[in-house]
Amino acid sequence: LPNFVTVEDLSIKMVETLLKRAQYFKNGGQVPCLDKPTYCVNMFFENSTRTHTSFEMAERKLNITELPFNPSQSSVKKGETLYDTLFTMDAIGVDFAVIRHPENEYYKKLIDLTKEQHLDIGLINAGDGSGQHPSQSLLDMMTIYEQFGYFKGLKVAIVGDITNSRVAKSNMQLLTRLGAKVYFSGPKYWYSSEFDEYGQYGAVDEILPEMDAIILLRVQHERHGEDSNEETFSAAEYHEKYGLNHVRYAHLKKNAIIMHPGPVNRGVEWADDLVEAPKSRFYTQMQNGVFVRMAMIEAVLRGRKLGGLE
Ligand code: CP
Repeated sequence: LPNFVTVEDLSIKMVETLLKRAQYFKNGGQVPCLDKPTYCVNMFFENSTRTHTSFEMAERKLNITELPFNPSQSSVKKGETLYDTLFTMDAIGVDFAVIRHPENEYYKKLIDLTKEQHLDIGLINAGDGSGQHPSQSLLDMMTIYEQFGYFKGLKVAIVGDITNSRVAKSNMQLLTRLGAKVYFSGPKYWYSSEFDEYGQYGAVDEILPEMDAIILLRVQHERHGEDSNEETFSAAEYHEKYGLNHVRYAHLKKNAIIMHPGPVNRGVEWADDLVEAPKSRFYTQMQNGVFVRMAMIEAVLRGRKLGGLE
C-alpha cells in the first residue's frame, strides 16, 4: 500500500494480514530491519491524544525518525496549503506523513496532486472529518478478534453520534465485510438511512442485551452545528436515554465486551465507574493501537520499498 487512507482500499486478506502482523508485534515479534534512515512527520490539524502518541510510539518502535510538526507554529498559519506543506516535506526528505484533518476526504486531492507532480511521499490518514479513521477501525477489529477469534456472525452495536463519527463509518464497512452483524442505536437524529445497508437500527434497551461487542461513540460537540432542528440533551439526559449505565451493564451477555474510541465523556456515553469494568476493552484498544499502527506503517514502507523493505 503506497498510501493508507481508507478501509475501503483494504481486501479482507489485507485486513487479516495486518491484524496478524499487529498481533505478532504485540507478542514481541521482531521489527523489520530498515537498511536506510527513514523519516516521517505527524501532521495533526485536529486535536488528538491516542492516535498522535500511538503513531509516534509505533514510529519509534520501528526505528523511524519523526520530525516535529505543530500546525499552529507552521506556515499553514500564513495560508500555506496542505499540498504545499506536503511538497515541502517531500523536498526535505520525509518519506511519509501521517495526517489528521477536519476536511472529509482531504487525501483524495492530495494523492492526485502528489501523483501529478511526481512527489515521493506516502500518506497515512489519521482521521478525516467525519469520513474515515482506518487506524482506529483496525485496532477495534484487533480487539474484537483477540476476544472472540472470529468475526462471522458476531453481533456488534455502534451506539451514539453515528453521523459525525469517522470511527462508525470505517467500522460499519469493515465489520460487515468481515461477516459481523452490525446494529445501530442512539439518538435517531444522529442516524441516517444511508447506514441501513450496513445494519439495523434499534432501541438501546432492546439491542444491547443481544450484543457480543458494543462500540460506544463520543458525543462530538465540536462537530455539531447551529442547526435549530438538532436534538439537544444535557449530559444527564443522554446518559439516561442512551448511555451505558449499571442497569444496562447488568443485562449484557456474559462474554460481551464494551469499546470506545476515546476520549470518553465519562458519565455521558459510559458511567464513570464502568469505564474500567471487567467487560471494558478501552485500555486494550489503546494498547492495540500501537501495534496496528506499526503494521500499517510497515505496509506503507513495503508499498514504497522504503528502508530496503519489499
Ligand atoms: N480515538 C481517537 O482518535 O482518539 P484521539 O482523538 O485522542 O486521537
